[in-house]
Amino acid sequence: MDSKVIRQKFIDFFKSKGHKIVSSSSLVPENDSSVLFTTAGMQQFKPYFVGTKDPVKDFGNKNLTSVQKCFRTSDIDLVGDESHLTFFEMLGNFSIGGYGKKEAIGYAWELMTSEDWYGLPQDRFFATIFAGDNEIPADEESEKFWKEVAPSIEVKKTGREENFWPNPVWVGTCGPSSELHYILDDGSSIEVWNLVFTQYFHSEDGSFKDLGQINIDTGMGLERLAMIAQEKSSIFETDLFWSIITEIEKHTGQKYSEVANQSKMRIIADHLRAAVYLIVDGVRPSNKLEGYILRRLLRRVAVKTFQLKDSLTPQLYSILQTIIDVHEHREVENVTEQELERFGKTLDRGLKEIKKIARIDGKLAFDLYQTYGFPLEVTEELFRQKGQQIDHKQFEEEFKNHQEISRAGIGKFAGGLAGHSETEIKYHTATHLLQQALRDILGPEVFQKGSNITAERLRFDFSFDRRLTDQE
Ligand code: ALA
Repeated sequence: MDSKVIRQKFIDFFKSKGHKIVSSSSLVPENDSSVLFTTAGMQQFKPYFVGTKDPVKDFGNKNLTSVQKCFRTSDIDLVGDESHLTFFEMLGNFSIGGYGKKEAIGYAWELMTSEDWYGLPQDRFFATIFAGDNEIPADEESEKFWKEVAPSIEVKKTGREENFWPNPVWVGTCGPSSELHYILDDGSSIEVWNLVFTQYFHSEDGSFKDLGQINIDTGMGLERLAMIAQEKSSIFETDLFWSIITEIEKHTGQKYSEVANQSKMRIIADHLRAAVYLIVDGVRPSNKLEGYILRRLLRRVAVKTFQLKDSLTPQLYSILQTIIDVHEHREVENVTEQELERFGKTLDRGLKEIKKIARIDGKLAFDLYQTYGFPLEVTEELFRQKGQQIDHKQFEEEFKNHQEISRAGIGKFAGGLAGHSETEIKYHTATHLLQQALRDILGPEVFQKGSNITAERLRFDFSFDRRLTDQE
């Protein structure tokens, strides 16, 4: 089953059950400063889950469904195995004061196993439920409901780590969850669907308050579902990734079938795909927050490509093209090319420098970061291969020292702008303020293309698809 069909069936199924289809929100959440990225489908619905907004008023429905773009840094170190990603699409159904556990469990089972829908073999599934602990009672109801819809299913009980969401818990709504797992050909299993029964509000003081209503929040990774529906042993072999992997093979002249190449190729595919989606949602490489995460993804792509190719051509146009073809976005190409080209120039010198280092330490790692832009974890990875570790404390101390030096006398805007004068910092800040003002008036699609400020005048180039009105 093609991934397009899988996506469509999910939406069609929940539409047939009276859900309203809501489009994905941006990877960079609006009006939510608690997180850098959108990591789950429910995130755009937070105000409805807390009760400050009414879904019927805004969507005409208590029951909603979406295919949400998600980005998680939490799994970044696991990327390279069969089933972990930074960027993924989350299929979800939600009910805010509509249906409860029984329906949520019933829907999940029907969609997964009915011949009209995914038609996956029933005996490959098992479920997990929350076992309860000293703060939150066990979720006995869910076991009963699983047994009602799937009498032969095995139901396992686990603790907070597995069956409570979110983990670690945030300030906001949360609750016990029940997961559906799928047993693979080799006998191992993979979590595919998480059904969260949002029932509590976790306060800043650490207490859990019962909301007096169970809301439904579910999430299933499209890539994992594609992996089982297409009977592949990894997500990278599904139609969502295979053309990208093939392009990486062509570009590097290496074979994916060589086990030694697999994790590198998977990292390139995941990180590049994630970078594309981040760029589409307005993130640009920088030394701060979201921008730095994007920069790290691209630098890691450059290093992994270098390792496979053993020559310096971080320009991955053909691979990018394969990803972009699906998304039709030229902007992505320009941003990625510029960033990779810029890094490509220092990568070569940096790698030569690294060859000369017999023993890495935190200070040297900081020098590599400072001079060649090698993110700490990239350096770490390169030296881990030689069996060496880096003292993070020392790296951070070095980082702090450096910040203090560059901050001396120039106020709090110095971060990442070492050596600039106070006036330059002010100019730089002014462009940020101007960009924000443009976005407030014109919308979030405005991006800075360049700027030039002197004491006499200010030039600010930005992308926008029409002339501004006089009023604007
Ligand atoms: N919000 C739940 C998750 O992200 C469904 O796993």
